[in-house]
Amino acid sequence: MTDLILFGVFPYVAVALAVAVGSYRYVIDRYSWSSHSSQFLESRLLFWGSVPWHYAILLILLAHLLAVLFPSGWGVLLGRPVRLYFLEVSGLALGLCTVIAIVLLMARRLTDARLAAVTTKIDWLVLGLLLLQVATGVYIAFTLRWGGVWYVHTATPWLRSLLTFQPEVQYLAVLPTVVKVHAFNAFLLVALLPFSRLVHALSVPLGYLARPYQVVIWYRGKTSL
Ligand code: HEM
Repeated sequence: MTDLILFGVFPYVAVALAVAVGSYRYVIDRYSWSSHSSQFLESRLLFWGSVPWHYAILLILLAHLLAVLFPSGWGVLLGRPVRLYFLEVSGLALGLCTVIAIVLLMARRLTDARLAAVTTKIDWLVLGLLLLQVATGVYIAFTLRWGGVWYVHTATPWLRSLLTFQPEVQYLAVLPTVVKVHAFNAFLLVALLPFSRLVHALSVPLGYLARPYQVVIWYRGKTSL
């Protein structure tokens, strides 16, 4: 029963919340639909945390997605030991990169009083859950070999069953607790998307690719105005 609620019902609640509250926020308070950059307050640590975080997490999420969309192709890809090792080692390197990056981003907000002042409770909650997500992911990859392979026979059918509105939670029910925590936490983060600055993950700023560039020039201290 618990598995049914956590993995058969909660994912729908999370997605419904993300869509409904997200759309409401977009219409009612579009300015708040942002990551609320703190680059003006501090930029050096932000660079070393944010850039690796975004590249690594996007590649990891792409791998999660490809294994769901093309399970047979994914199986063929991992069918040769050399390719399996290559992908698992790359995944681990990227996973460790995300852990280090999120710890750095959290430390940055903890140690700078100006940043701490603009960091809300929901920011800390989301940062903590993101840390939990990537830390459990790396732990799984380290301890439950070979995740890339068994994912296709467990997580893939579970996630595909959710897409067809016929949840088959038995695929997850048999997995170790840490995998269940990892899977549940993923949907908890989805549920929190519209309530936090994580909402920026839903907007891909494609307009920036075509927009004329802007040059920002500091006049302070250079003129007598
Ligand atoms: C918010 C969504 C998610 C994020 C950010 C995330 C993040 C991660 C990270 C950072 C890793 C470590 C990668 C590595 O070191 O190889 C990982 C591994 C893994 N994740 Fe996720 N994950 C998410 C959703 C899920 C879901 C829904 C499942 C389904 C059960 C899942 C199952 C796994 C498995 C089985 C591994 C081990 C892969 C391996 O050993 O190669 N993840 N995840």
